[in-house]
Amino acid sequence: MTPQRQLKLGAFMRPVSIHTGAWRYPGAFKDANFNFAHLKRFAQTLERAKFDAFFMADHLAVLNMPIDALKHSHTVTSFEPFTLLAALSQATERIGLVATASTTFDEPFHIARRFASLDHLSNGRAGWNVVTTANPDAALNFGLEQAFAHDERYARAREFYDVVTGLWDSWADDAFVRDTESGIFFDPARLHTLNHKGKYLSVKGPLHIARPVQGWPVIVQAGASEPGRQLAAETAEVVFAAHGTLEEGQKFYADVEGRMQRLGRHRDHLKILPGAFVVVGDTVEEARAIRAKLDSLVH
Ligand SMILES: Cc1cc2nc3c(=O)[nH]c(=O)nc-3n(C[C@H](O)[C@H](O)[C@H](O)COP(=O)(O)O)c2cc1C
Repeated sequence: MTPQRQLKLGAFMRPVSIHTGAWRYPGAFKDANFNFAHLKRFAQTLERAKFDAFFMADHLAVLNMPIDALKHSHTVTSFEPFTLLAALSQATERIGLVATASTTFDEPFHIARRFASLDHLSNGRAGWNVVTTANPDAALNFGLEQAFAHDERYARAREFYDVVTGLWDSWADDAFVRDTESGIFFDPARLHTLNHKGKYLSVKGPLHIARPVQGWPVIVQAGASEPGRQLAAETAEVVFAAHGTLEEGQKFYADVEGRMQRLGRHRDHLKILPGAFVVVGDTVEEARAIRAKLDSLVH
């Protein structure tokens, strides 16, 4: 019997809508990016609509676009992903909460503990979009004169992933015995110290947070380059893709799947989520009219 396959739906809203004209659409909530009441309602609506995940992008700087273009954009600023998703975790029950976190401008200990915390808070709904941050302006916000080279960023990302997942495994699932009789809270034999020393990172561990509810939060990636695809094939459970044609999408899928096979990973262990801009209307004509109106609102 063929196993039942199910479509996965993720919402990429940044955090309200990706369309530059959206905030000018009649009836739109212009301040929704920083209005938690709206964001909460949107996330709850996505959950009712059976979406699997709500995704928060993060670029660690204002997008490097000409200011004349940028001044029209409502996506120019948005919440820090963990803060928003921690709040949304308390307003939702089932939807996955995917935060972007950078392997170039952050430390694995910070990332491991933030995701472990989000996973506990949300009862096992956290996901990590592993990015290496291509935006050169981000370097200037972290005391650096220039950005790291692309391949160097990916080499660090691969080691970074090993450290974060190693830290998540610091405590065995049954480490906390909490035995009131003996007064033993945890079993030291079930605590593992990472002692990582690699080319880019040195992290002793252990993490001072219990193992995440999922074990490891869901690993998401969106690499398009050679090292980006390789990182995805080695580590990711979800890949965001953005291709203009079906042929390009199929080529990408075959390439990532081929890499997984060579690594001994099963294709079902990774879902590729191609990006689509969705406009909802009662009829196709109405949806087309909404799209045309939205496009007319972009300068
Ligand atoms: C749907 C989608 C979402 C992305 N979100 C982010 C993000 O939030 N932050 C970021 O720095 N890069 C983001 N990226 C960029 C990717 O991480 C990646 O750098 C890009 O696809 C180019 O691939 P490469 O890094 O392999 O060259 C996103 C890409 C896609 C397709």
